Amino acid sequence: MKIFLDTANLDEIKNGVDLGLIDGVTTNPTLISKENVDFKTRIKEICDLVKGPTSAEVIGTNHMQMIEEARILASISPYVVVKIPMTEEGIKATKILSSEGIKTNLTLIFTPLQALVAAKAGATYVSPFVGRLDDISNEGMKLVEDIKKIFMNYSFQTQIIVASIRHPEHILRAAKIGADIVTVPLNVLLKIMKHPLTDIGLETFLKDWEKYKNR
Ligand code: G3P
Repeated sequence: MKIFLDTANLDEIKNGVDLGLIDGVTTNPTLISKENVDFKTRIKEICDLVKGPTSAEVIGTNHMQMIEEARILASISPYVVVKIPMTEEGIKATKILSSEGIKTNLTLIFTPLQALVAAKAGATYVSPFVGRLDDISNEGMKLVEDIKKIFMNYSFQTQIIVASIRHPEHILRAAKIGADIVTVPLNVLLKIMKHPLTDIGLETFLKDWEKYKNR
């Protein structure tokens, strides 16, 4: 399973890269807006740092605007993946961009059939938003299970990025389902490496070693 960081913050990305665990990055207009920097410059910085797939989202709402923006974004770096909203216009844009070899990530996916349509249009990735479904009392991870089954039934090459991850349990379930990628905030990634018994056990080992050395 690949791990992407869901952020546009360079310090967080450097932290993740130093861990040696980060395969890519996803951004969205909200994450970019928090950084107060030039959008394209930041995308280039992220690509150079991560050297892996980096999602940058279009703002246009009709397919011609999306395609125009996508071509510009794709020219920033070979690592750019153009994030396209899951709308009828987004599907038209995806079909054309896919024929041009531009990688796409269909975002704001909330049903299995949206994912099916995105895959048929040639999307490189789909991003089901699990946390936002949980927020409205639906089961976000059930969506991922359904998409995985559909993609396996028809051997679609489109990869599943589990997005809107809020806690370690989302990552565990994604791994059990066999989702291709999880995109996670840094604070959640740091949590999955920790357990109180690891800390207590290590403290005891080090204390016992001190006693042994001074025997
Ligand atoms: O990658 C999509 C993700 O950023 C959405 O997360 O927490 O805003 O639902 P959230």
